[in-house]
Amino acid sequence: MPTPTPADKFTFGLWTVGWQGRDPFGDATRPALDPVETVHRLAELGAHGVTFHDDDLIPFGSSDAERDAIVKRFRTALDATGLKVPMATTNLFTHPVFKDGAFTANDRDVRRYALRKTIRNIDLAVELGATTYVAWGGREGAEHGAAKDVRVALDRLKEAFDLLGEYVEEQGYDLRFAIEPKPNEPRGDILLPTVGHALAFIGSLERPERVGLNPEVGHEQMAGLNFTHGIAQALWHGKLFHIDLNGQSGIKYDQDLRFGAGDLRSAFWLVDLLESAGYDGPRHFDFKPPRTEDFEGVWASAAACMSNYLMLKEKALAFRADPAVQEALRASRLDELARPTAEDGLAALVADRGAFEDFDVDAAAARGMAFEQLDQLAMEHLLGVR
Ligand code: GCO
Ligand code: MN
Ligand code: MN
Ligand code: MN
Repeated sequence: MPTPTPADKFTFGLWTVGWQGRDPFGDATRPALDPVETVHRLAELGAHGVTFHDDDLIPFGSSDAERDAIVKRFRTALDATGLKVPMATTNLFTHPVFKDGAFTANDRDVRRYALRKTIRNIDLAVELGATTYVAWGGREGAEHGAAKDVRVALDRLKEAFDLLGEYVEEQGYDLRFAIEPKPNEPRGDILLPTVGHALAFIGSLERPERVGLNPEVGHEQMAGLNFTHGIAQALWHGKLFHIDLNGQSGIKYDQDLRFGAGDLRSAFWLVDLLESAGYDGPRHFDFKPPRTEDFEGVWASAAACMSNYLMLKEKALAFRADPAVQEALRASRLDELARPTAEDGLAALVADRGAFEDFDVDAAAARGMAFEQLDQLAMEHLLGVR
């Protein structure tokens, strides 16, 4: 089995392995994990970095002195292990004050508090070396109709990102924001539910170049969408700033399974895309070890996230290098897709009788695309028989 090294850029949130297994129906099944232990364990497993929400590291309500002591201890562990903090984020969903959202809460004082809480953690994130700041709008949403004026809420959401961008610019920070879409849970409906919605929103901001995406595998799949296609479009727009890798089985609650579990074929195409597109950001795992697991199971699942990625990478590279696949790609005419439709220009296209008047529509319609043979080769690589 391939062994991860820091060069693979695998990162984990403190809240992933640290999830205690509390769900809407049951209490915690595991005790809390000390973030310092997490740093050491992740480093031993070959990870590159660790990420956190402010409250994962510094319990909500800590005094300034407690905060300083916690950060100092955490930094000592980072220095001792060489683990990096490439990203951080804000918890704007656990405390009851955020029950109607944070940047889009109807209550103005809650919105101002949410911005200050975020700014405070941005300072810490930058201090620890982060260059990406994730914004997941967990409770920016609604269960009712008239109770949330969505157009006005989007005004407030834009205002929040414009203010945060202004702050980061003023401070001279090397920090970009990555919006994480999710269709629902914990709210009935969440604003910016998919990659596409978030991409359109970013275009309306004051500093669109500073804002990109942090798509999560399971979140697009909860909306029944093709995650790999979403990532391809995010890459096409230059907006894949970060990625949350995990697993999901179809349209249901947010499972946050370990990467590779759930839709394995989708995971294969995702790794194939990330590797062939040259994505060089962190491979961040945002998963929850199921509440059935003890700590042995927790660390086994964290290790499996990384080895599953590496195994899929080997498969994807072998797939692309296979002469039979290259032949099948030609038979499926991928090279033709890569050719501009009218490199001869509009006038030549309009004058080209072969493009219309003399075009043999029936012959073109009768041509097979040979996609099944190509797809079966992928299946054979994935199943390890090629
Ligand atoms: C989810 C989300 C969260 C966010 C994280 C960062 O599973 O609903 O992925 O885990 O990624 O809170 O803010
Ligand atoms: Mn999730
Ligand atoms: Mn996530
Ligand atoms: Mn998550």
